[in-house]
Amino acid sequence: MRLSILLFLAGLPVGYGQTAPQGQGVTPAGEFVGSNACKTCHADIWLNFYKNPHYKSLASGSEPPERTGCEGCHGPAQKHVAARGGKDTIPRAFSLMEPRQALNTCLECHARDFSRANIRRSEHTMNDVACNSCHSIHHSPTPKYLLAKKQSDLCYSCHAGQRAQFSMPSKHRVNEGFMQCTDCHNPHGAFEATWKMAQRPRMVEQALNTEQPCLKCHVDKRGPFVFEHPGVRIEGCATCHHPHGSMNAKLLTRPVVFTICLECHNGASTFGTRNSGVDLQSSRHNLLDPKFQKCTTCHVAIHGSNADQYFLR
Ligand code: HEC
Ligand code: HEC
Ligand code: HEC
Ligand code: HEC
Ligand code: HEC
Ligand code: HEC
Ligand code: HEC
Ligand code: HEC
Ligand code: HEC
Ligand code: HEC
Repeated sequence: MRLSILLFLAGLPVGYGQTAPQGQGVTPAGEFVGSNACKTCHADIWLNFYKNPHYKSLASGSEPPERTGCEGCHGPAQKHVAARGGKDTIPRAFSLMEPRQALNTCLECHARDFSRANIRRSEHTMNDVACNSCHSIHHSPTPKYLLAKKQSDLCYSCHAGQRAQFSMPSKHRVNEGFMQCTDCHNPHGAFEATWKMAQRPRMVEQALNTEQPCLKCHVDKRGPFVFEHPGVRIEGCATCHHPHGSMNAKLLTRPVVFTICLECHNGASTFGTRNSGVDLQSSRHNLLDPKFQKCTTCHVAIHGSNADQYFLR
């Protein structure tokens, strides 16, 4: 047994287990003991650490001690080792830390990664859901991103209601593994965008040039079109579609198409240049006739058209 561990260690990359370079940081050098000192008592964590992306700081050998290995997160451990352990002797025992303190520890190195995320003002941060609620540094079951659980299970563990939405007859196939929450959301936070979806940001990820994330995949809806439908372009996809799932076909917000249209085209319009109401009965539209109730049988290019101002083709 002992021999096999030795052989295993011999096969590790160069630099592993070496004492961290000392004396380069602002903290007095004596306080850092290097990751090697942890191996006897925390063998399970130590032996797996070479697989962790955070092992890079040890391997490079060029980081200052306060950014190297175990102590890069847990702080200088001389006192802890001298005391032969104890939660209260290590500067950063995460089990004793407030979510904000954990967040600040991680952001010492990761602040730059979140240039496109609003990490400090995300709904998660504001509700004390910090990095270690979602990431597990030492016991992650996922090959990427050190997640505490497989992504959908992770999100559902707190957002149980969304699981039901993704089980509806019309849905995006997240549960089936074709898509992920993070195709549309940034769990680290999002900035205000211009389209309506962002009135409450809901951490909806932005695509190119602050576009709605939907357009990453539904590129035919991107435009620009010669004839834009303001209902789509300005109000946003979520005006007519439930993004997660719906009892109605095509993820629509209502079972019958014309009831969606009449939310805006009701004659009481406060927007647009024309009165965008649809008459109950006229030569063009007769809403009493069922054939007019599926507006998109005629207005087929409802997301915008390059050929017709009424979206008839
Ligand atoms: C002599 C044995 C020993 C050595 C060496 C040692 N530890 Fe510990 N460590 C312990 C014991 C014992 C505990 C307390 C466990 C408990 O109370 O649950 C502990 C607790 C911790 C905790 C607290 C975990 C928590 O949040 O509850 C951290 C972090 C930690 N050690 C990191 C380190 C690091 C980093 C090193 C190397 C620099 C190190 N330890 C070296 C024995 C040791
Ligand atoms: C990237 C930051 C980071 C690094 C590097 C790191 N840890 Fe941790 N450690 C944590 C966090 C966060 C926790 C709290 C538990 C969790 O979220 O997984 C933790 C928990 C622990 C615990 C408590 C027991 C447990 O299993 O959770 C021990 C002991 C520990 N770390 C030791 C170490 C040792 C030894 C090293 C170096 C081989 C190390 N840590 C490197 C962040 C780190
Ligand atoms: C609500 C859950 C959640 C919280 C809180 C969270 N993360 Fe993440 N993080 C994720 C998920 C999910 C991914 C994977 C994204 C993907 O698959 O594209 C990820 C990816 C990452 C990545 C790698 C890719 C990238 O986006 O740069 C880093 C680094 C990261 N997180 C660090 C952090 C840090 C640091 C914190 C705290 C400041 C944090 N995370 C808070 C869920 C979370
Ligand atoms: C001492 C600096 C430092 C600290 C502190 C730190 N990290 Fe990291 N982290 C790194 C480096 C370096 C990488 C590797 C980046 C790369 O692969 O280029 C990394 C990578 C990651 C990744 C990406 C993993 C992947 O698969 O791409 C996640 C997630 C992550 N860190 C989360 C955290 C969390 C959560 C904390 C706080 C508990 C934390 N980090 C604290 C330096 C740090
Ligand atoms: C530890 C629990 C926890 C985990 C894990 C978690 N969340 Fe959250 N999430 C919350 C809390 C708490 C809030 C804020 C209160 C609320 O709106 O429900 C929130 C808010 C949100 C919001 C904004 C809701 C709104 O109404 O504005 C979105 C979107 C979200 N989470 C997505 C995700 C995604 C995607 C994941 C997985 C990567 C995830 N969450 C993982 C707890 C969690
Ligand atoms: C196809 C894109 C997409 C996917 C995939 C997606 N979301 Fe959303 N989600 C949205 C949009 C857009 C909103 C905002 C809806 C609005 O403003 O009416 C939203 C809103 C939310 C909210 C706020 C409350 C609500 O239901 O309106 C939560 C929480 C949330 N999503 C969690 C999740 C979780 C968890 C997953 C993965 C299991 C997920 N989302 C996958 C696009 C998506
Ligand atoms: C990661 C790619 C991706 C993103 C992002 C995405 N979708 Fe989808 N969407 C799909 C795929 C793939 C389908 C095909 C349905 C399936 O999975 O069987 C689909 C189907 C649909 C459907 C039609 C369902 C049907 O029954 O024909 C609508 C409507 C839709 N998406 C709207 C949206 C909206 C609104 C958003 C933004 C909130 C969005 N999508 C974001 C990939 C995406
Ligand atoms: C004004 C309401 C409205 C808005 C806003 C809207 N849609 Fe639709 N969408 C519809 C209707 C109605 C249908 C069903 C058409 C049919 O069945 O004839 C549909 C169908 C779809 C379909 C499936 C059929 C197809 O054309 O591919 C997708 C995908 C889709 N929409 C994506 C989007 C995306 C992405 C956005 C945002 C850019 C968006 N929709 C905004 C009303 C809307
Ligand atoms: C969120 C509001 C909204 C919804 C929902 C909506 N529209 Fe519109 N639509 C508009 C606005 C605003 C205009 C521009 C009207 C103007 O310039 O007077 C417009 C223009 C049109 C036009 C061109 C008419 C013209 O006068 O230029 C047609 C046709 C149309 N919509 C059909 C539909 C149909 C069919 C639906 C349902 C599938 C629908 N709309 C849903 C807001 C909406
Ligand atoms: C049988 C085909 C057909 C159906 C069904 C239909 N429309 Fe139209 N719609 C038209 C035609 C044709 C025009 C006028 C084009 C022109 O004037 O050249 C038009 C014009 C419009 C306009 C422009 C303003 C106006 O009244 O001149 C709006 C808005 C509109 N339709 C909305 C709707 C809505 C909402 C529904 C569903 C309740 C609907 N349409 C159903 C064929 C149809």
